Amino acid sequence: MTAIRVCALSELEQDSALRVEVDGVAICVVKDSNDDIHAIGDVCTHGDVSLADGFVDGDTIECWAHGSAFSLLSGRPLNLPAYEPVPVFAVQIQGDDVFIDPSVKKDLS
Ligand code: FES
Repeated sequence: MTAIRVCALSELEQDSALRVEVDGVAICVVKDSNDDIHAIGDVCTHGDVSLADGFVDGDTIECWAHGSAFSLLSGRPLNLPAYEPVPVFAVQIQGDDVFIDPSVKKDLS
C-alpha cells in the first residue's frame, strides 16, 4: 500500500490530535509542542477509546478515560492502567499535506 493523504498540515493545531482512518485503520495524528507530527494507533490499548480525544503534553498523549499517557515516539504507555503499546506509523510531509501508510510501522530500533 502506498501512503495516503490524511489531512493538511494546516488542519493540525499545536498540542492537538486528529483522528483519521486509513484503509480501515484508525490513526491518531498529533502535532506536538515542537510542531513535530506523529501518527500512532488511535485506539487505547486499555479500552475502546479514541486517543485523539485525549490530551497532548510534550511528546505524549494522555487517554482521557483512565489517564494512561502514551509516548508519541515509541507508542509505549508510560503509566497504568494501559500496559500494551499502540503502533507508531511513519509520517511523510509533502508541502502542506500529511501522508501515512498504515502498513508501514515506524522503525523504533
Ligand atoms: S481506556 Fe485508555 S486508559 Fe483506560
